[in-house]
Amino acid sequence: MRIDTLIVGGGIVGLGIGWKLAQRGQAVTILERGAAGREASWAAAGLLAPATEVHYQEDRNLRLGLESMRLYPEFVAELEASTGMCVDYRTEGAIAVAARADDAADMRALFEYQLELGLPVRWLSGEEARAMEPSLSPYITAGVFCPMDHHIDNRLLVDALKAAYVRSGGTLLEHTEVRRVVIENGSYQGVEASDQVFRSRRLLIAAGSWSGLLPGLPEAIRPPVRPVKGQLFSVRSPAPGFLTRFVRSPRLYIAPKSDGRIVMGATVEEMGFNRDVTAGALYSLLKEAWDHLPGVYELPILETWCGFRPGSRDNSPLLGESEIPGVFFATGHYRNGILFAPVTSHAMSQLLLDGKVPELLQPFSPKRFAA
Ligand code: FAD
Ligand code: GLY
Repeated sequence: MRIDTLIVGGGIVGLGIGWKLAQRGQAVTILERGAAGREASWAAAGLLAPATEVHYQEDRNLRLGLESMRLYPEFVAELEASTGMCVDYRTEGAIAVAARADDAADMRALFEYQLELGLPVRWLSGEEARAMEPSLSPYITAGVFCPMDHHIDNRLLVDALKAAYVRSGGTLLEHTEVRRVVIENGSYQGVEASDQVFRSRRLLIAAGSWSGLLPGLPEAIRPPVRPVKGQLFSVRSPAPGFLTRFVRSPRLYIAPKSDGRIVMGATVEEMGFNRDVTAGALYSLLKEAWDHLPGVYELPILETWCGFRPGSRDNSPLLGESEIPGVFFATGHYRNGILFAPVTSHAMSQLLLDGKVPELLQPFSPKRFAA
């Protein structure tokens, strides 16, 4: 079987790039160790929030996020049209809120930074925030409305991407673990998986938090990606108008999905691949939820879970070719893999098709970490 691009990992990153390549007539095979889309891409909250989640000194991530937001409506429309599936893309905007004086001061400083960056944000009093979202706590004294920030149901999104990829002619081999990347004398040969060797013109490693663990990768190109654990829970909304926009406090986000789930999270923990959902994490998330959305007290808990954000050393993704010709990376999306999905899919598929590095991807070359 001729394979142009072999992709390791069927998360949102591998599926998105694979979909765009298959659409352009490339022979693509994705090898996925488990079921596609069931790791970080499933665990996420689905926030598309370049403004609300802006961080100081992460301007290049902001630029990538803004470009992805520009691409999102068309990405979703094309995906929904080609699969007949809905991905619950919600465009009501987001509100950051503060219930304590120091949180409000912190938010004010971030607000000034958001304004400097030209982001469309509006300062709200506590009353104005509650007028927009009546379920918010009376203790909230300030807010920032970010109309450009949206959210999506990431679980529906990865399932739709999987369907679109397969419909476009892509091959998806689930429950197929890549056990070794074969590189001889600095030249890429193929990968070993399921007792056979897969050969391809190019290899794309999109294995999320596991991208740096693949046996056979030379140390010089091994990506410095680690798992950053996040724990979340969801409750059932009591009524459709209970919460409309997604709300962010300094230590919690609350995302109401159209199927009646309200997703709340998340912790940020350096715990390796530990999959325990812990009492301490749930306690602090629930306390924060209670402080900002008191009605949560009565709501039934639907699910608790955790996942692993692929974090790199500079919190930016690795997107591009490595020092070994033909071996590419698309990993390290950390807290923004759902946000970055359209831009990653478009820009990486362009690179894999014509070999030219799109200008937008230049700051994200994996070679910046080469040993
Ligand atoms: P993954 O989805 O983890 O996929 C990698 C795949 O590779 C897995 O399916 C795995 O099984 C497979 N794999 C690994 N090793 C092998 C192997 N040897 N052989 C074959 N397959 C292999 N981002 C946002 O934009 N907004 C959010 O609101 C948001 N919230 C988040 C909340 C939490 C708690 C977490 C954990 C993440 C969140 N993120 C969010 C980040 C986002 O989920 C990730 O950046 C994104 O899902 C990474 O996608 P991926 O495809 O690289 O990784
Ligand atoms: N971006 C949300 C998270 O990583 O938890």
